[in-house]
Amino acid sequence: MICAPSFLSSDFTKLKDEILSIDQAKWLHFDVMDGRFVPNKTYNHMMVKEISEYSNQVFDCHLMIEEPEKFVENYAVSGANYITFHYEASKDSKTLIKKIKSYNVKAGISIKPDTDISVLKDLLKDIDMVLIMSVEPGKGGQAFLPSALDKINYLNNIRIKNNYDFLIEVDGGVNFDTAKMVKKAGADVIVVGSFIFKQENRNEIIMELENV
Ligand code: DX5
Ligand code: ZN
Repeated sequence: MICAPSFLSSDFTKLKDEILSIDQAKWLHFDVMDGRFVPNKTYNHMMVKEISEYSNQVFDCHLMIEEPEKFVENYAVSGANYITFHYEASKDSKTLIKKIKSYNVKAGISIKPDTDISVLKDLLKDIDMVLIMSVEPGKGGQAFLPSALDKINYLNNIRIKNNYDFLIEVDGGVNFDTAKMVKKAGADVIVVGSFIFKQENRNEIIMELENV
């Protein structure tokens, strides 16, 4: 699997060092929160621009924001490779997917734990990645919700049956044990925050997570 470290739980007073401490990761997960869609507020597209000065990892931008259609361009021009919006914040997901792709950026869609996976059915042929939240979005360090496994299985079965090629990404409470569970269910990308940043040997942890 691909490991996309989330630096939400890192030490922001030495962010460049923290990002360089996970330089073996191919992807980097940005947790954008606007204080409206989720209670917390983190950073905006300027963070993507700043980190693009010293990282050439795949920038995986998770927009936990209201009115994502208004901000797609900011992230596209700042260096995002994936822009993932929340189904629950989008008035017209089909159009938003097209808009993201028009900037040559991969389009992702995410659902919260309480949202039924079937709402995505008609979007699966157009989407590049589905992000299954295995915690309530808004903060790091929460426990993995096993209900995510059924959603991953559901997506994987549809993907195989219809020969779709979207990636399945899982985000929240991922560690060695839950990484094994989501891999078995069909996940391709794991977002890992606190489990990586609470330890020192981060690049080793990332390698191990990718090969569970
Ligand atoms: C939560 C974020 C997740 C979170 C993951 O809203 O979307 O990416 O930072 O952190 P851990 O791995 O600590 O659950
Ligand atoms: Zn995230």
